[in-house]
Amino acid sequence: MRYEKILSWLREDDPVRLKRLWDRADEVRRETVGDAVHLRGLLEISNHCCRMCTYCGLRAGNLTLDRYRMDENEIMACVFQAVAAGYGTVVVQAAEDYGIESRWLAGIVRRIRSETPLAVTLSMGERPGKDLARWRKAGADRYLLRFETSDPALYRRIHPAKPGEALHRKDILPILKQLGYETGSGVMIGVPGQDYGSLARDILLFRHLDLDMVGVGPFIPHPATPMGQDRSPMKPAGKNQVPATEVMTCKVIALTRLVCPEANIPATTALATISAADGIKKGLTRGANVVMPNLTPPTYQRLYAVYPGKACISDNGAHTEADGVHRWISEIGRSVGSGQGGRRHGP
Ligand code: 5AD
Repeated sequence: MRYEKILSWLREDDPVRLKRLWDRADEVRRETVGDAVHLRGLLEISNHCCRMCTYCGLRAGNLTLDRYRMDENEIMACVFQAVAAGYGTVVVQAAEDYGIESRWLAGIVRRIRSETPLAVTLSMGERPGKDLARWRKAGADRYLLRFETSDPALYRRIHPAKPGEALHRKDILPILKQLGYETGSGVMIGVPGQDYGSLARDILLFRHLDLDMVGVGPFIPHPATPMGQDRSPMKPAGKNQVPATEVMTCKVIALTRLVCPEANIPATTALATISAADGIKKGLTRGANVVMPNLTPPTYQRLYAVYPGKACISDNGAHTEADGVHRWISEIGRSVGSGQGGRRHGP
C-alpha cells in the first residue's frame, strides 16, 4: 500500500467505508495467521528506569513512584503460572533497568527454556549489543522494542538521548534481527505533535523493517510526566494532529495487518484501557491475533504504571470469569492458539 492510500485511510471517518477496512484486515488476518488467538503471559519484572521519556510514568524523574525489582523465585513462580494457564510464550518486560545484570537475566532465560516449553520474549529497552547477544545465546526467542515514532524531531523531544548515545531505537531493530531474534516494534498513537503523515510513515517503516510483531496503542497522558502536564514541550499538530482514540488505534492495527500480513499483532492493554472489554474484541476483529494477559503479581502490576488506569487483562485472576480473555475469544468465534505461536512465513 502506498503512502497516499495509508494517509487517506487514517483520515477516513465514514463508518461505511471504515467497515470495508475492518473487513479486509480481518480477511487478511484469517488467510495469513488463521483464527487462533495466541496468548502471551506478560511479566513486568522491574519498574526501575534510567530514562527520562517525557510520556512515560516510569521515567527516572517520577520520584513519587515506589520502585520494585522481582527476584528469581518470584519470576519463576509466575513463569510456571504461564505454563499452567496453557500459554506458549512468556514476555519478560522491564523498564530500562541496569540493576538487571545481563548475566543474571541470561540465567533466568536459560531456566525458562530448560524447565518449560515456553518461548521467551524479552522487552528490556535499549540494552547494549553484548547484552542482547548474551540473552539470545541463552535462548531468548523474541525481543520487543517500540520505536514510538519514526519522526526524528518528535522522537528526540519525547525520548531524550542519554549522554553519548548514538543510536535511534529504530536502528537497534536490525541488530536484533541479525542476532536471530523475532523482532517486534510499534508506536504510540496520538502523541501531541504526531501528525497523520508521520503516522503513515510509521506504518510504512513496519513493513520496511519486516517486523515479526507490531504492537500499537493510544497515548494516555500520565500526570507525573511533562506530557501529562501543562508544561508539556509538545504542541499538538493543529488540524493534522492524530487523535489518541480507539478508532484511530484500530485503523493502525488494520493497516498494519494489510502491510505486514504475517506479523503477530496484539490487541494491546492501552487499547483495552481506553475502551475496556470491547477494545480487545475490536482489535481482534480488525487485524490483531494476539493478547497479552498480565501475570505480574498485582502489588507490582499497580506500580508498573506507564500510564494511569492501566487495564488488567486477565483470564483467571483479578477479573471475573465473564471478563476473561477466553470468553472474549469464543464470543468472536475464534480459538485460543496452541504452541509458541511464532511468526509464520508465507508460501
Ligand atoms: N501512553 C501510552 N503508552 C505508553 N507507553 C509508555 N508511556 C505511555 C503512555 N503515557 C508505551 C510505550 C512503551 C510501552 C512499554 O508503553 O510505547 O514502549
